[in-house]
Amino acid sequence: MTIDFKEKESVIEKVKSLLGGEEKFAMVETYGCQQNVNDSQKYEGILEKMGYTLTHDREKADFIMFNTCAVRENAEKKVFGNIGALKHLKLKKPDMVIAIAGCMSQQESVEKKLRRSHPHVDMILGTRAMADFPEALEKVLSERKRVINRREIDYICENVPTNYDGGCKAFVSIMYGCNNFCTYCIVPYVRGRERSRSMEAVLDECRLLAKKGVKEITLLGQNVNSYGKDLGLTEGFATLLCEVDKIDGIERIRFMSSHPKDISDKVLETMATSRHICHQLHLPLQSGSDKLLKEMNRVYNTEKYLSIVKKAKELMPDIAMTTDIIVGFPTETEEDFEGTIKMLETVKYDSIFSFIYSKREGTPAAKMDFVATEEEIKARFDRLLEVQNRISYELNKKCEGEEQMVLVEGVSREEGVLTSRNYQNKIVNFKGDESLVGKMVKVKITKAQTWILIGEMCE
Ligand code: SAH
Ligand code: SF4
Ligand code: F3S
Repeated sequence: MTIDFKEKESVIEKVKSLLGGEEKFAMVETYGCQQNVNDSQKYEGILEKMGYTLTHDREKADFIMFNTCAVRENAEKKVFGNIGALKHLKLKKPDMVIAIAGCMSQQESVEKKLRRSHPHVDMILGTRAMADFPEALEKVLSERKRVINRREIDYICENVPTNYDGGCKAFVSIMYGCNNFCTYCIVPYVRGRERSRSMEAVLDECRLLAKKGVKEITLLGQNVNSYGKDLGLTEGFATLLCEVDKIDGIERIRFMSSHPKDISDKVLETMATSRHICHQLHLPLQSGSDKLLKEMNRVYNTEKYLSIVKKAKELMPDIAMTTDIIVGFPTETEEDFEGTIKMLETVKYDSIFSFIYSKREGTPAAKMDFVATEEEIKARFDRLLEVQNRISYELNKKCEGEEQMVLVEGVSREEGVLTSRNYQNKIVNFKGDESLVGKMVKVKITKAQTWILIGEMCE
C-alpha cells in the first residue's frame, strides 16, 4: 500500500491554523540508525510545513519529538532518562507537545511503561505512524488528549516533505522493514515486513536532491540487496544503482546495509564499472563462527562471506570494507570469538562497528543461556577493538602520500581545519577555508591516525 502525503495537505492546514499566528518552535531528537535519521528529517519536513520553525534548543521548543531506537538496551535507557528530564520543561510550559516516536515506542511493553509512568508524554507513535501524524497532532492540539498510534499495517509513504538540512549529503530510503529475523534482532518486529519503494519514486527523489546541490547520496534499507524482490524485480538493486549512477550532479553514491546472503555478483560488477558508486562496502559479518552464524540465522557461512570479499577485491582492488560485529551472543565460546578475530585479520576491514550483544525480549536469542560471563565478554570486546585499531591504522598508513578527492562536510573543532570524507568514507581533516564546505577538493594525505587521516590541500 502506498499513501500519498499530498492528501494530507488539508489536515496540515488545520494544524497550521491551530498553532495561531505566533512563531512556534519544534525539534526532533534522533536516537537510531540512518533510517531513523531519515524518518526524523521527514518529521521535520512535516513540522515545517505545519508552520513550525525548527530548533535544537529543548527550552525553546513548543513541540519535541524523540525518534527512538530499540536495537540495544542502552539506547532505550538513554531515551527513558531523557523523557524523565522533559518533565520539568512541561511544568514550565504546559502547552508544549511531547511525542515519542520510532522503533522503541512500537513495542507494546514500552507503550505500557510510557502510559503508566510518563503522563507528560502526549503522543506515542510507532514506526508506521507517519501517515497519521498530521491527524494525531491536530487531535492533541485541539482536544488536549493523548494520542497513541502503533498501527501495524505496513505501507509506503510518498511525497513526504523532508528537511534535507541543505547539506551536501543526503539519505534516501529505498525500502522499509526487514524479513530476515536474525535471532538477536528486534528490527523485524518493530519495523514490519520488507517493502520497496518504486524505482521511479527513488529516482525522482535522487534527481530532486541533485537539483538542490546534493553531491553524495546514501541509499538506505535494512537489506538493500533484496530491493525490488517484492516488486517482482530480479537484480532490482543492481538496476537501481545503475540508474542512480546516471544522474548528473551526484558525485558519490553509497548504500547500506548489505546482507551477505543476498548480495549478487551483479551488484559488485555494477559498483566496479559505475561512474560514481564509491568503492566502499559495508558488509555486516556479525560473527566469524559458522556455528554462531547459524544460531543467529544469518543464512551464510564464513566461506560464502569470504568468497564475496574475494570477488569484491578482485573487481575493486581499492575497495574499503567495513562491517558490524556482535560480541557475546549468548552461545559464543572463546573458540567462536577466535573465529571473529581470524575474520578481522583475513578481511582487513578499514573499520568496524562493534556491539556487545544486548538481550531483546521477544527475539529467539533472548531465551538462550549465556555460556560466558560479563567480564569474559567485556575482555573479548576490548581485544576485538585492539586488533581492529591496529588493522585500521595499518590500512590508513598506506594512504600516506596519496592524493585523494574528498567531499568537504564542515569545519572541525580545531580552528581553521575542515573535515571531509574520501571516497572510502574515511575522515580526512585538512587546513582550508570554510567556503570549501560542500565542495569536492583534492587533498594529499600527510599523516595517518587510527580513526582519521590528516591531509593538505593540493594546489
Ligand atoms: N540490517 C542491518 C543491521 C541493522 S542493526 C544488517 O543486518 O546488516 C545494526 C547492527 O546492530 C547490526 O548489524 C548488529 O551488529 C547490531 N545489533 C542488532 N541487534 C543487536 C543486539 N540485540 N545486540 C547487539 N547488537 C545488535
Ligand atoms: Fe536485524 Fe538481521 Fe534484519 Fe539486519 S537483517 S535488521 S540484523 S533482522
Ligand atoms: Fe534503526 Fe534502531 Fe530502529 S537501528 S531500525 S532505529 S531499532
